[in-house]
Amino acid sequence: MQRLFSYPVMEELSDQMGRPLHDLRISVTDRCNMRCDYCMPAEVFDANHQFMHRNELLTFEEINSVVESLVPLGIKKIRLTGGEPLLRRDIENLIQMLSKHPVEIAMTTNGLLFRGRGKKLQNAGLNRVTFSLDSLDPIVFEKITGTSGERLQSILDSIDEAIECGLGQVRINSVIRRGVNEQDIDRLIEQFAHLPVSLRFIEFMDVGNHNGWRYNDVIPSSEIRAYLRKSFNLTPINSTQRGEVARRWSVEGGNGFEIGFISSVTQPFCGDCTRARISAEGKLYTCLFTTNGTDLKSILRNKTNENDVQNIISEIWSMRNDRYSEIRNKSPKPGTISLPKIEMSYIGG
Ligand code: GTP
Ligand code: 5AD
Ligand code: SF4
Ligand code: SF4
Repeated sequence: MQRLFSYPVMEELSDQMGRPLHDLRISVTDRCNMRCDYCMPAEVFDANHQFMHRNELLTFEEINSVVESLVPLGIKKIRLTGGEPLLRRDIENLIQMLSKHPVEIAMTTNGLLFRGRGKKLQNAGLNRVTFSLDSLDPIVFEKITGTSGERLQSILDSIDEAIECGLGQVRINSVIRRGVNEQDIDRLIEQFAHLPVSLRFIEFMDVGNHNGWRYNDVIPSSEIRAYLRKSFNLTPINSTQRGEVARRWSVEGGNGFEIGFISSVTQPFCGDCTRARISAEGKLYTCLFTTNGTDLKSILRNKTNENDVQNIISEIWSMRNDRYSEIRNKSPKPGTISLPKIEMSYIGG
């Protein structure tokens, strides 16, 4: 990694539960070219929905300035998200700017706009990519995403392209819901088992306000694992980094293929949550489930002191005690905590 800046060495930040700030998830747009029913249902995110205006978005320079402020505080990894991050014009230019910092750069995308851009993104400095793909059945895919099943092939081509480029160990995220796409567990494994990818089954979470989340729709990871054990020999893989969200298993005979489980409903991982999130309009959130963010954009735009952003984030992180998923599970009826929440498409998952 090229290092052009020198950073002052500071004592590592730690929150009220001893968690460092290692990851920054940056949403670069609140728009998406899909309408997944559990994230941006078409009837809510319709032609009347007010998306952010261009002037409201943080500019690439502003995003870069936030990252520059956070590197001395311990940031090691950046994930570009959306909505759909590849909708943001010239995203390669942002990646290029960020690649000058000593951080790993990853992206989570639905893959619709990826094909033909893998090398360009990698040359700009992208290290890793994760694709969201919940179904391989064109009819189910269309039902979930509001997007023609004919587009599936272009997503599969994008995944192949990312693997060929060597964009890290490519990950595939699949949210599996009861009565919706259980059949895809087998289909997805069949599709990817011969490839060096990490296929992650995600428990359906109660994020946002519009997905009609019910506890009964969640398929616990343990249930999927028990099902898979009937056909596969699974061996647990030790986690390599603090804050990893997936528990991973290797599959006998798989050549670099692994299966991961992201069990934020049945096995919350708040104790190791080292992630901060910035929305496309520059608000800082310290938990996926918080309601209020801190407006960094006005600090950036009225800046009087170049350390303002760093100071405010240090202060917020030191006070942080978020652990929503753990608290949710302690409530008498899980899922009954009902404060208005930010949308996943706004904060980028
Ligand atoms: P890294 O940032 O490299 O660790 O990647 P990741 O695996 O966190 O990224 P990805 O976007 O693929 O995240 C996978 C999914 O895990 C997200 O879409 C969420 O569904 C879930 N997730 C990630 N971080 C959190 C978190 O902090 N809290 C909860 N509850 N879920 C999370
Ligand atoms: N539960 C679990 N995962 C979700 N995602 C979006 N909404 C939810 C939800 N309610 C996932 C997407 C994508 C990632 C950014 O977040 O599938 O992979
Ligand atoms: Fe679907 Fe991701 Fe778009 Fe949400 S942001 S609608 S999960 S593709
Ligand atoms: Fe982190 Fe909040 Fe998710 Fe817990 S619920 S892992 S604190 S983002």
